[in-house]
Order: sequence, then structure tokens, then C-alpha cells
Amino acid sequence: MKTVNKPKKLPGAVEQKLIDEAFKALKNSHSPHSKFRVGSAILGKSGKIYPGTNVEFDAFSLTVCAERSALFNAISNGEKEFTVIAIATSSEEFKFPCGLCRQALVEFNPKLKVILVSKNKQIKRFILKDIIPNYFKL
Ligand code: THU
Repeated sequence: MKTVNKPKKLPGAVEQKLIDEAFKALKNSHSPHSKFRVGSAILGKSGKIYPGTNVEFDAFSLTVCAERSALFNAISNGEKEFTVIAIATSSEEFKFPCGLCRQALVEFNPKLKVILVSKNKQIKRFILKDIIPNYFKL
């Protein structure tokens, strides 16, 4: 992936905490169908971190991704502004967030910093709007 805007470096401790929370959530993944585990942690302006994981159902289309789980968790707790999201997966390759999650997140903050983490702890950092150009806006 070509990085368009390189995000400013986060304090190492904040980044590490988000990554740790994302992996903690990944352990709770309910993914009996795909066996693909995803954990995510979104940082609110208040400083609080909200985790989320993917949840799958026998009625497949009910599945919710880890990124939207984290977003719903944050919003349910009264947080509306976000600065960073960490996304960890059970894959050794980098797995980018799906289109639905990109749209959901970009509506809250196009400049959201995204930290992708692979199973073997490789890290990729970018700005959300760089992976969803011309997104839908009312
Ligand atoms: N998944 C996520 O949690 N985030 C994404 O951005 C893409 C996919 C989940 C949904 C499903 O449980 C599994 O990964 C396989 O698609």
C-alpha cells in the first residue's frame, strides 16, 4: 500500500496500549464460521479506549466486524470523537478494514489514525480517508 499521508507518530505507550487492547478483544472473537479472529480498540477524545471484536451468527449476514463493534461500544458509552483505532487480526498478512467499517468510521473522523497489526506483530500506520476516497456524505 502506498502511504499518502504519513500519520504523526503516537506516543509509544498509547500505541502499545491500543495494540494490547485490540489483541485482548481478538481473544474474545466469536467466529465459529470463518475462524478469522479480529480485535479492535478505538481511542476516544476523552482518553478512554473501547474494545470490540467480530461476532458471527448462523444467519451469516448478521455478522458484525471488530471495528464496528468497537465503534458501537464507544458510542454506547457516550463517546463521539475518535483519534486512533488499532486493528489486530489472526492473519500473518495485513488485513485492511472492510468497506462497511471504513464508511462507518470515516463518518466520525476522516483523519482517524489507523494502526493495523498482523498476528506476528508487524505494524502498518495510515490515515483512514486515504483508503476511502470520495466516501458518501449527506
Ligand atoms: N471482519 C472484521 O472483523 N473486520 C473487517 O474489517 C473485515 C472482516 C470479520 C468479519 C468476519 O467475522 C470475519 O472477519 C471474516 O470475514
